[in-house]
Parts: sequence; C-alpha cells; structure tokens
Amino acid sequence: MKEIDITLWTKVGEGGNGATYTNQAEPGVLLKESYLEMAKADNLVKEFNLSKAVYELGIPTPQMLELVSVNGRAAIKCQAIQGKKSFARLCNENPEKIDEYARQMARLAKQFHATIATGESAIPSMKAIMEEAVTQSEMLSTKAKQRVQEFLDTIEDAPTLVHGDFTFSNLIMADDKAYWIDLGNAAHGSPYFDLGHFYLFCNIFSRKQRVQDIAHMTDQQMIQFWNTFAKAYSGEENVDEFNKTCKRFAALDIVLLGHIQPLTFSERLFLGMLAKKMIKQ
Ligand SMILES: Nc1ncnc2c1ncn2[C@@H]1O[C@H](COP(=O)(O)OP(=O)(O)O)[C@@H](O)[C@H]1O
Ligand SMILES: [Mg+2]
Repeated sequence: MKEIDITLWTKVGEGGNGATYTNQAEPGVLLKESYLEMAKADNLVKEFNLSKAVYELGIPTPQMLELVSVNGRAAIKCQAIQGKKSFARLCNENPEKIDEYARQMARLAKQFHATIATGESAIPSMKAIMEEAVTQSEMLSTKAKQRVQEFLDTIEDAPTLVHGDFTFSNLIMADDKAYWIDLGNAAHGSPYFDLGHFYLFCNIFSRKQRVQDIAHMTDQQMIQFWNTFAKAYSGEENVDEFNKTCKRFAALDIVLLGHIQPLTFSERLFLGMLAKKMIKQ
C-alpha cells in the first residue's frame, strides 16, 4: 500500500472513526483516514471494497480511488464531493424544509432499496450478519434471544441493497445531486434493516444530547423528519403498521450494535432491555 505524506494534506473534517483531508496538489480527492492501527483497520478496507461494489451497481456515491497508508494506518482516497452538505446539516440550516428533505430522502431510499445487489460478491447478506450477532449476543437473556431468533427466521434474505448505516448524515448533497456515503456496512437484505436502524436513531437515540450534536437537530426535529419520511416511504397516511415493523427490526439493530461495538456493562443492560421491549411489539 502506498504511503502518504500527511504533512502535505489539510484536515477538513473529523468524524467518530477518523479524519478527512484534502490536498491542493490533488484537486477533487478526499483522503479518509482511520484512527485505528493497520492491523485493526480492516473496517476501512471493507468500506473501500463495499463502496466500490455499490458504485458499480449504479448507486450515486463518491468514487473510490485508492487504498493507501498514513503512518501505518489505513486510509482511503476517494472522489471529494465539493461543497457538499449532509441532509442533517441541510435540516439544521433550513428547519422549515425538514418535511421536504424527508420526502426527498424517502424517494432516494426507495431507489437504493430497489437495487439488486446479489451480483456483487463483495456485498454480504445482512440476514447472515444478524444470525451471527444474535447467536453471539451477550445482551439478551436466553428467552429474549429465542424471541429475536424466531423473528429473524421469518425475514426473507432479500437480494436488494441495504445501506447499513442509513441516516440523514450519510446522504450528502452538492449542486442538487445527492450521494450516499459511509457504505462500510452495506449488505443485501430486507430494506427494513435500514428502516429499523433509522427509526431507532430518530425516535429513541435522538433523546441523547450526543446524538443531537451529531445530527445537528433537536429530538423533536428528528421525530418530525421520521414521521414525514415514514409516510413518504410507505405511501401510507397511517404509519402505525410500518412503525411496528420498523421497531421489530430496530431490536435486531440493537443486537448488531452490541456485536460490532464494545459496550459498557450499563449500556449492555439498557440496550438489552430496549431490544427486548422492541421485539415484543
Ligand atoms: N466523498 C466525500 N466528499 C466530501 N465529503 C465527504 C465524503 N465522504 C465523506 N465526507 C464527509 O466526511 C465526514 C465523515 O464521513 P463518513 O464517511 O460518513 O464517516 P464516519 O464513519 O465518520 O461517519 C462527514 O462530514 C462527511 O460528510
Ligand atoms: Mg457517517
């Protein structure tokens, strides 16, 4: 892997997992670095390969250019979307347009979720990933685990694309063109895997100040976004049934969170209880 001299690059952003840089000598290129050591940086390699596969399916997403290394850490060179703003940021700046952005995201999501992904061998099955997460879960009692497993068994292993971190922060816009980003957990499966994840974010996790800071929105604004999004996505005025399904998939998403992220004892306890409550709906 080519080593990059980071002193030639200017930091333009910082996320939970790493930082982003640009370099005047390479216009149109964004460098996305991981804080993790090379040995643990498989996530960035996975993100590179999955993003590439999703791009090849015709989804609007920044083009992946090269996997490189920065001081022994993995980094991605990709197409920089100049002047981008995330849908979350757009809602923050134009709160009177939250409903409009929610409807637009629903339209784009339906296209994303209609894309057949099984032709790309790099794209894994979300159902299979969930099977592993549930089997190994340390947040559920035996009985709760059984309930979650029974629900998982009813889910079809759909061939269509799921984003894997479906939120308004991972949909960016520049010059009226929207791009999906952060595709490191992309997979194929039921679109409700994404919808459950987003339901959880907007309606439950939105109560946390840290989440409001990440989203640049209040909890009320996130709930408003969800309600309009849910109506537009489902095509129904009454979204009770839609929300009910989303909640059951949200329980799975909680189990997955415990699988991919180290949790403290109290987080595990809280999330275990939440998952149990949501699967019961
Ligand atoms: N191709 C891109 N062009 C411009 N900005 C981008 C691009 N990809 C990501 N970003 C920005 O970089 C930051 C980190 O993005 P993201 O890929 O979602 O990583 P994280 O895993 O930290 O959420 C965000 O501010 C996002 O809007
Ligand atoms: Mg992101």
